Amino acid sequence: MRPITRRNALILGGVGAVGVGVGGTGLWMTQDASSPVPSQTGVGKEFTEPPELRSRNGALSVALEAAAGQVTVAGNTVTALSYNGGLPGPTLRVRAGDTLRVSLHNGLADPSNLHVHGLHVSPENNSDNVFVTVPAGDSFDYRYELPLNHPPGVYWYHPHQHGFVTDQVFGGLYGAIIVEDPTAIAVSRERLLVISDITVGSGGTIPAATAMEKMSGREGELVLVNGQLAPVMASRPGERERWRIVNACVSRYLRLRLDGQRLTLLGMDSGRFSSPRTVDEILMAPGNRADLLVMGAAGTSLLRTRHYDRGSSAGMMGRGPERPAGDITLATLTVAGESAAAAAAVPRQALPRDLRAATVTARRELVFAMGTGGMGGGMMSPTINGRTFDPSRVDETVQFGSVEEWLLTNTSTLDHPMHLHVWPMQIVEEGGRVVDTAIWQDVVNIPARGTTRVRIAFDDFSGRTVYHCHILDHEDAGMMGIIQAQ
Ligand code: C2O
Ligand code: CU
Ligand code: CU
Repeated sequence: MRPITRRNALILGGVGAVGVGVGGTGLWMTQDASSPVPSQTGVGKEFTEPPELRSRNGALSVALEAAAGQVTVAGNTVTALSYNGGLPGPTLRVRAGDTLRVSLHNGLADPSNLHVHGLHVSPENNSDNVFVTVPAGDSFDYRYELPLNHPPGVYWYHPHQHGFVTDQVFGGLYGAIIVEDPTAIAVSRERLLVISDITVGSGGTIPAATAMEKMSGREGELVLVNGQLAPVMASRPGERERWRIVNACVSRYLRLRLDGQRLTLLGMDSGRFSSPRTVDEILMAPGNRADLLVMGAAGTSLLRTRHYDRGSSAGMMGRGPERPAGDITLATLTVAGESAAAAAAVPRQALPRDLRAATVTARRELVFAMGTGGMGGGMMSPTINGRTFDPSRVDETVQFGSVEEWLLTNTSTLDHPMHLHVWPMQIVEEGGRVVDTAIWQDVVNIPARGTTRVRIAFDDFSGRTVYHCHILDHEDAGMMGIIQAQ
C-alpha cells in the first residue's frame, strides 16, 4: 500500500486506506499512482450506476460501511472515502409506508453519522437524528419509518457530523434514496445521475481546502456523474427516459442543459409539480434533486452544466477563489437507431398540497449573513440571525401541527441554499416575486442580497432537528440552527 501524504491525511484523518473497487464497467483500472491528474475533457466510458437495494414486503435492511480506500476516476487511482467501496454508495429503493434499517459502520478515522436528506421521517432516537455521533470504529443501527403519505421522489444520504460534513461528502460519502411512485410512469429506462465534484491532486489524493475555499464553499475541479468522468449513454429516437438527478456537490450549483432533447420536469426534491413542465434548463443548488423525463430525439446531445453566478466573497475580503466561467460537459447522450413506439401519456400527478390558503400561526425571519469574528484571523464567519451553531441551544421552537411563514433574508454577497430537515418547504415568494403554483423543496436558494419566503407545515413528526446552509463548508463553519417542534 502506498503511503498516505500529509495533505491527504487532512481528509482521511490518517486512517490506513483499505483497497476497494468501484462497481461497474465504466472505470479503467490503473494502479499507477503517478499517472497524470485526470481532467474534465474527453469522452469517458459507458454510463454506469451504483448497485440498487430494493425493499421487499415493506422493509429494507442495509449495511453501510464508511471507509477510506482507493477508487478509480478516469483511469487514475484516487484515495477517497466511500460507502461499501463504491462512489456513490448503493441506491436504496423504498416505498411510502416502508421501514428502512441501516446499520452504519464507521470505518473512518473521524466521527461520522448518517442523514437521510429530504425524507419525511422522525428526527428522534435512532431515526433521522443528526445529534447521534458514531465514533471512529463504532457502529449504529438506524431505523426509519416512512409514513404512508410520504411523497415519491429522489432523496439522498450523506454524513452529518458537524465539523466533518464537507470533508466527508467531498471525499465521496453520498448515495441516493428513491421513494417509488404509487403509480409507475411508463418509460423505456430509468437512470440515476448522482452528480458530485472532487479535486484530485498529485499522487491521487484529495487536497485539503484552503481557508478561502472554505469561506466561499469549495468546488472540485472535476464534476462526476455516478463517480465517472463524462460517461456516454445511448437510446433510440422516441424513447422516453426518466432521469433522477442528485446534486451531491458540496457547494457547486448546477445549471443543467441537454440541448437537442425534449425535457419535462416532473418535480424537484419532494413530490411533484401540479403538472409536468417543459424546461430547457434546470438550476440545482447543492442538495437539490430533479425528477426529469427525456424524450429521445435523434442526434448527440451533451449534458452540460453552465456557469451559475452564485456571487463571491470578494468585496468582503479580497478576492474569492477563481471559479471557471465556462460550460462543463458531464455526459453524452447519443440517440440513434430505429424509432421506438410512442410512450403512453404521463399519468396525472397527485396534486401537491398548497399552503397558500392555510392559516399561518407564526411568522419568523432568518437572516443569513457573513459576519465578522468566529473564525478568527479577520475571516468572515457565516451566521444565521447573528449566531453560529451551538448544539446546546434551541434557536426556534415551533408548534407541532402548525403552519408557519418564514422570510429568509440574505445580507451577503454569496447565495445561500437553505435546507430544513424533516418538513419540506413550499416556496411562496422568490426574490420579491410571488410564486403562483405549489412548489415544494427541501433546499431553497436565497440569492445574494435577496430574499425567499416559504411556508412550512410542521406535521406528522415532532422533535428536534436542524436547518442550515447546504454549502457544506458554511454548515461546518456554523451556518446552522436547531429547531424544535413540540
Ligand atoms: Cu443534506 Cu442537513 O443535509
Ligand atoms: Cu438534509
Ligand atoms: Cu451559505
